[in-house]
Amino acid sequence: MINFNPYGTIEDTVARLRELVGSKVVLVAVSGGVDSATIATMLLRAKIQTRCIFIDTGFMRTNESREAIALLKRNNIDAQLISAQERFYPALSHVSNPIEKRLVFRKTYFQIIETYLRNDHITLLAQGSQSKSDILKRNYHNVCDNEYINSNITKIEPLVGLSKPEIRNMAKTLNLTDELAERPPFPGPGLLIRFGGEYTPQKLDIIRDATEIVETFSRENSAEFVECFQIFPYLCSESMVTFINQKSQTDLGSIILIRAVMLKDGSYKPFILSAPLFQKLTDALMQINGIARVCLDMTPKNGTIDKARHGATIEYE
Ligand code: XMP
Repeated sequence: MINFNPYGTIEDTVARLRELVGSKVVLVAVSGGVDSATIATMLLRAKIQTRCIFIDTGFMRTNESREAIALLKRNNIDAQLISAQERFYPALSHVSNPIEKRLVFRKTYFQIIETYLRNDHITLLAQGSQSKSDILKRNYHNVCDNEYINSNITKIEPLVGLSKPEIRNMAKTLNLTDELAERPPFPGPGLLIRFGGEYTPQKLDIIRDATEIVETFSRENSAEFVECFQIFPYLCSESMVTFINQKSQTDLGSIILIRAVMLKDGSYKPFILSAPLFQKLTDALMQINGIARVCLDMTPKNGTIDKARHGATIEYE
């Protein structure tokens, strides 16, 4: 972020957007995250006719749709809620391969966007994509080509090439609240990629509860998480392990992994919770029915320690 000038970047982007869009209407699928909110705000600042939709995929966290729409509203972004659970659940209920899960999610996501664009005769779609190479490698939910949307649609991606800290800096310069500018990242496919194997309502319930516990815990212990960029639980697939349940019987249950990372000098490193902190978090998670064990993942991300060594992505899928 050395020498990054948020004012200049915003001014240039706003001018470019004005020139590119003119009097047309632009659609932005907002998520409540900083990237899409920054784009929507720059479009509004450019006085461009901007339509914002929030797609509820069904893989959202507890109360996420309601809270994200309210947060956007507090930041002068009006988003229309599109409830699309009934599209996503059937499409994903028999898909267990992680790559396939992402592809089916992406296809469903763009089918919804395409229908919206077609019905409202909109030809411009603005997206918050950042680093092209990374998102292509990981089948990001918002990477699309003509396989997904028809060729009359023009995609606008003003944030390509910018880092997360730079976008947060722009968001603050645009007067977005800290709550929005500093919102921890959450992947577009949401809780779908936070449990192993195919979607079932039971797995979704468990990972939703676990996510709420982890996020509440990190908020309540914020002093200990200052350096943490992202922390979340992952529910391992079918494999059951033994544990002693609350009735002191031997039982079978699932494993939760905790992934926490920090962003230092432009690269991700594992964020290691202290033992007492992790014990407290484990106790809280063990209250969820069906959870047998909680494990901490300290695997470095690819290239973090030694460029030649392989490593793990942040997300599990
Ligand atoms: P990985 O797993 O690639 O994650 O090391 C890097 C960062 O990107 C987030 N992520 C996504 N964000 N759509 C998004 O908007 C996606 O499909 C997606 N997949 C991963 C991840 O949470 C982490 O912050």
